[in-house]
Amino acid sequence: MPAHTTPAANATANTRGSMACMAAGQVVFAGSGPGDADLLTVKAMRALQEADVILYDRLVSDEIMALAGPQAVLENVGKEGFGAQVSQDEINARLVAHAKAGRKVLRLKAGDPTIFARLDEELTVCEEAGIATQIIPGITAASAAVASIGQSLTQRGRNTSVRFITGHAMTGFADHDWAALARPGEMAAVYMGKKSARFVQGRLIMHGADRATPVTIVENASRPEQRVLETNLDRLPADLDAAGFDGPALTFLGLAPRKAAAALTDLKTELA
Ligand SMILES: C[S@@+](CC[C@H](N)C(=O)[O-])C[C@H]1O[C@@H](n2cnc3c(N)ncnc32)[C@H](O)[C@@H]1O
Repeated sequence: MPAHTTPAANATANTRGSMACMAAGQVVFAGSGPGDADLLTVKAMRALQEADVILYDRLVSDEIMALAGPQAVLENVGKEGFGAQVSQDEINARLVAHAKAGRKVLRLKAGDPTIFARLDEELTVCEEAGIATQIIPGITAASAAVASIGQSLTQRGRNTSVRFITGHAMTGFADHDWAALARPGEMAAVYMGKKSARFVQGRLIMHGADRATPVTIVENASRPEQRVLETNLDRLPADLDAAGFDGPALTFLGLAPRKAAAALTDLKTELA
């Protein structure tokens, strides 16, 4: 084997067949997807049914939690916005304690556990305690939201890259490369972006972004109560306030729903 290759770290997660998905004393980190239970992976579904204890986040839907096995003890460790219901230290301690007690532990996170989900902190704590781990990916909110507006995250001739950014960081609103984001044709998916909408608008306009840049916000993507707000950079904070979204929302900078985007292109062609 060449020196730079290693066996797949997540090898157990890729094993198919009738083998159990979880082992006693192991922590499985799985994504629950955006909310619709039909968007759960088969592997995450099996983990839900096998787990002895499930530590789950606030955004994991009730519909998905209803799929847990009857033996499972359910622990809601949800955090909200800038505050915390159960501290990260407490979550870490519970993961280790449950695994050390020989339980099959499922740490269920909304969307994909590798995106804005503090996965590494929890993995490190498990590693330091000598606990085996496994990661089961999930459908992230941006993928579900973009599908709901009939668009794709990249498109030949439109954008060759897309950024996943967060609206807030540990110390407040998150800073980004605003000059790059303000360039025509840029596309970004903003997670946790409701409170920072006015800040993002200000930074982008300060760096020369066109006020007419399309912006789309999808609240509760994939859930029955899903709502879509179609606006532009100029109107973003006002329209978002008026919409009164109180569910999880994903903001697309530089992207309009498919029909609206087609109408804009037609208009530009007529005016040319
Ligand atoms: C802490 S982040 C977790 C992201 C998650 N790991 C993922 O991959 O989707 C929480 C943010 O994800 C977004 N989000 C999660 N589920 C969503 C949904 N169903 N619809 C819209 N946005 C969602 C919102 O921006 C929310 O504030």
